[in-house]
Amino acid sequence: MEENKEGFGSKIGFILAAAGSAVGLGNIWRFPYLAAKYGGGIFLLTYIILVVTFGFSLMVTEISLGRKTGKSVIGAYKDADKRFGFLGPVAALVPFIITPYYCVIGGWVVKYLVVFISGQAVAATNDDFFGGFISQAGQPTVFFLIYALLTAVVVIFGVEKGIENVSKILMPILVVLSVGIAIYTMTLPGAGAGLKYYILPNFEGFTGAKFLKTIVAAMGQLFYSMSLAMGIMVTYGSYMRKQDSVEGSTRQISFFDTLIAIIAGLIIVPSVFIFSGGDAAALNAGPGLMFVTLPKVFDSMKGGHIVGAAFFVLVTFAALTSSVSLLETMVSIVSEKFKLKRVASTAVCFVFLIVMGLFSVLGYSSWSEVTIFGYQILDFFDFISNNIMMPIVALLTCILIGYVVRPGYVEEETTHNGEVFKSKGLYEVMTKYVCPAFMIIILLTPFFVQL
Ligand code: PHE
Repeated sequence: MEENKEGFGSKIGFILAAAGSAVGLGNIWRFPYLAAKYGGGIFLLTYIILVVTFGFSLMVTEISLGRKTGKSVIGAYKDADKRFGFLGPVAALVPFIITPYYCVIGGWVVKYLVVFISGQAVAATNDDFFGGFISQAGQPTVFFLIYALLTAVVVIFGVEKGIENVSKILMPILVVLSVGIAIYTMTLPGAGAGLKYYILPNFEGFTGAKFLKTIVAAMGQLFYSMSLAMGIMVTYGSYMRKQDSVEGSTRQISFFDTLIAIIAGLIIVPSVFIFSGGDAAALNAGPGLMFVTLPKVFDSMKGGHIVGAAFFVLVTFAALTSSVSLLETMVSIVSEKFKLKRVASTAVCFVFLIVMGLFSVLGYSSWSEVTIFGYQILDFFDFISNNIMMPIVALLTCILIGYVVRPGYVEEETTHNGEVFKSKGLYEVMTKYVCPAFMIIILLTPFFVQL
């Protein structure tokens, strides 16, 4: 068995670091724009149901797999069953696709941070500000490089020092500040309609195709947000202490992750109604939504530029803990595979990250006419990772646990300290039947409807 030199020193350290990986741009940037686009309340409800059933089961599986084998994703699947060894590298490939574009968006956040700190907050309230920014190649490239460099610096410092300490302090502050901003947003005139749209599912006019799209979007978001189906939770599981409960930790991580997403939605979705009356085009804004609506919220606030600056600082850190876990996974894979030292393999991954990220930056600017299957480059990377690769990894993981090594393999780990695995029944049904069926639906959907 491979020895883990580094590990988490405390239970709360593990939970916060795993939550730090999970909570990031997925919650604050991606979740609200999907919720706005896919019917508000219906998306929210679908998402919550998926988290407590499907997301929970997959996270229990991944953490257990990691902790049981003590290996990172490459070795863990092989340890479970030789024939499934190939799944490790497939899962490991996902961070190589996500990290570059994640850092591009991290760069957008840093840009907004700079805008707020340097007193240009008002300019950002202009509807064309965001579009103007991403459509030029220069600035987004600079901010992308800054963000990617920050990520690499944290990774070089290692698991304990880098990830754990940063997460411990900042995650709670992020929650408090977000709740405060959400409460403030609720007091603005017009917030009621937005709140209603976001919270209450409205099934009117909700046809089969729409429903399918919503479920597929919610599923993709779940992988992304909970950092599942890409080996990250397996690797984190391998750092987890033996005496802690897998089930309890999974609950806490998923609760925290979902809570932040819901709060971010509470800020951003009603804002669309407040500032643009909730018209369809605004709700469909996509990746730019947060960047377009938030400055308006802050602008309407007394001292909003300070709150805005604080908010973007925290989002930058929330994003950093995620991109660090992404890069960390890439680095451990490269160093394991090519027998490189940490710094050398970080350098290799960094170069890769920059080259790939530049494609995403240019895809919105100089190469904006280039599309792949109708997607912009960044959106295409998002699509193949969330809608193709992760469902494949999740499907095969469920088959491995459900039918090859059998659920007992994971259950042994969840009851390692004599705990009762409370959701055992749910876990088995999800792993054997429901998850595989869902994964097949996700994989087939693009053949029938344009997502
Ligand atoms: N889960 C993170 C988020 O919500 C993103 C992420 C994806 C992090 C994959 C690690 C791995 O932002």
